[in-house]
Amino acid sequence: MPTGAGTKGGAAAAPRIAVIVSGSGTLLQALLDNAQGYTISSVLSDRGDALGLERARAAGVPTAVVELKEFPDRAAWDRGLLRAVEAFAPDLIVLAGFMRIVGEPLLTRYGGRIINTHPALLPAFPGAHGVRDAIAHGVKVTGCSVILVDAGTDTGPIIAQRAVDVLDDDTEETLHERIKVAERELLVDTVQRMATKGWTVEERKVRLG
Ligand code: GAR
Repeated sequence: MPTGAGTKGGAAAAPRIAVIVSGSGTLLQALLDNAQGYTISSVLSDRGDALGLERARAAGVPTAVVELKEFPDRAAWDRGLLRAVEAFAPDLIVLAGFMRIVGEPLLTRYGGRIINTHPALLPAFPGAHGVRDAIAHGVKVTGCSVILVDAGTDTGPIIAQRAVDVLDDDTEETLHERIKVAERELLVDTVQRMATKGWTVEERKVRLG
């Protein structure tokens, strides 16, 4: 039964979290604003222009940029990303709007300690367009999922989920904004619980605390 680190009694230091972002970083901001029981010790991005990096700098958090175009190929970039993450020695990695598949090097080194947040109720609507795909399918309820990352696309064990109603006149933008309100709360709550109480995984079942 794999387990994750929480505080094991005594005065253990708050787990150090590396957050990886590709975009605006509102989820990162929620993690920064509510950092109780954990420390956001680094923020990394595959895009030098990601607004999330500015949010990190404003909060005094060290950042690193690992852009694909700086590497000869995807495999070299995967190794580069691992080196950049390792330099910050995180206990847990949070993918918060990171729009790439995690490669084998990061997964081998940090497997079981990488979490991702996705704007749909997995296993429905995995991939880069979870909100668009849910609207196109005509579902009445969608939501967000926080999962442990495995080698597939949004296929890892589910840690927590929250439902959001789809309204008749929703566009991808309006629905995504409402999902992100729920997603920010869910992510902060889940990371706090994982950091302070730990977690176990039995087959696909994740239990917090
Ligand atoms: C979030 O909705 C997150 O679930 C999604 O990107 C958004 C990031 O928002 N991630 C994915 O779709 C990954 N497949 P933010 O940049 O405002 O934090």
